[in-house]
Amino acid sequence: MPGKIADGSLAAKGRLAHEWASRRMGIIERIKSKNERAHPLAGLRLGFCLHVTKEMAVLAMAAKGLGAEIAICSANPLSAQDDIAAFLYDEGVHVYAWRGETNAQYRQCIQCVLAFRPAIMTDDGGDLHVAAHRQKARGIVGGTEETTSGVKRLAALEGAGKLLYPVIAVNNARTKYLVDNRHGTGQSTLDGILRATDMLLAGKNMVVCGYGWVGKGVASRAKGMGAIVTVTEVDPMRAIEARMDGFAVLRLSDAVPAGDVFVTCTGQTGVIRNEHFLKMKDGAVLANAGHFDVEIDAGALYAIGRPAQVRPNVERFDVNGKSLFLLSKGRVVNLVAAEGHPPEVMALSFANQLLSILHVAKNHGKMERKVHGVPEKIDELVAWYALDAMGIRIDEMTEEQRRYQASS
Ligand SMILES: NC(=O)c1ccc[n+]([C@@H]2O[C@H](COP(=O)([O-])OP(=O)(O)OC[C@H]3O[C@@H](n4cnc5c(N)ncnc54)[C@H](O)[C@@H]3O)[C@@H](O)[C@H]2O)c1
Repeated sequence: MPGKIADGSLAAKGRLAHEWASRRMGIIERIKSKNERAHPLAGLRLGFCLHVTKEMAVLAMAAKGLGAEIAICSANPLSAQDDIAAFLYDEGVHVYAWRGETNAQYRQCIQCVLAFRPAIMTDDGGDLHVAAHRQKARGIVGGTEETTSGVKRLAALEGAGKLLYPVIAVNNARTKYLVDNRHGTGQSTLDGILRATDMLLAGKNMVVCGYGWVGKGVASRAKGMGAIVTVTEVDPMRAIEARMDGFAVLRLSDAVPAGDVFVTCTGQTGVIRNEHFLKMKDGAVLANAGHFDVEIDAGALYAIGRPAQVRPNVERFDVNGKSLFLLSKGRVVNLVAAEGHPPEVMALSFANQLLSILHVAKNHGKMERKVHGVPEKIDELVAWYALDAMGIRIDEMTEEQRRYQASS
């Protein structure tokens, strides 16, 4: 079967990991069982460019169970989990992913997914969508996008009048960003930093660059573990929000000398640069939680000289007689040094993905070529499913309250 993975003998380990995630992602199974009889994805080819994790395997297996044929590449050269790749390959999915791809191999894997001729494409970061557009997107009827950075790229394509098929911005569902970007990244980013460094966070000065959904999660979780958190921002509203949430807000250049740990969460390029590295204290740790490896100017560090690999996912650079430690080469630390978001989080994100894929499969003929929000009905349904999975019941408005709300 077509595909390229690191080691097929890891399939049994991947199967166990899939089972582990599956138990905590009951929402996906529920969506699958509800739709199973109609076989709504029968014969449909799906192309995925997603982090190859146990949670993604739950999404892929559900889509397969609904009739889809799937080809997958990884959304990051360093994030694929080889046991999961082996498990999915064993299950008949065309997998082109392994941990430690070079940039050229990463691009080749994207080309392999496009060569599979998918009708619907699900991306995380926009690399697959952008590559498809370079080839005129033949045969593609629609897609979905998982993250903030990918949605921005697709919105730019739409703005330039160049978007060739409708895309649902799964990132923009409330049940996605309120849970995944904030709580998922909050926990898993700290998990990545801790697995890589084994450092104590209590009492450390942590600088969080960006106070969007991801930054809010990272800052609040770090504060909860006793770190003294400073936020940097370029947006005055978010800067006020951070201050009112109890964080120090400083310009990065002012925050740099005291920082023990820096985490970029901006989706922007060149946020931490050479001028900052030069002012950092000995032992400073640098991590990125944003989608692309452009937030910390790792290129400037590598230009200084060959780093020493001091632990897995930790490189030491000697800058001006001081040691700086870069985690996971400046790539998403939660996926490279840890396992990404926990299954309970991805249950919501991938419920939105699966329902959005089903929506595109059914409605693409009626959808404009633009970036669509997740239909409100889907977002709400996912919220109800999630509450149900947690055993939570909530109040209903009384008739009187309904009337009061509608009154002028
Ligand atoms: N690691 C993960 O698992 C994961 C999960 C979700 C999203 N993401 C990625 O994280 C990034 C942020 O996502 P988000 O949803 O929080 O986006 P967001 O747009 O809500 O927040 C980004 C924030 O960064 C601020 N910012 C921009 N440039 C800055 C700069 N130079 N200095 C300081 N602040 C700056 C913006 O003003 C904004 O408030 C994106 O790349 C997104 O794709 C990663």
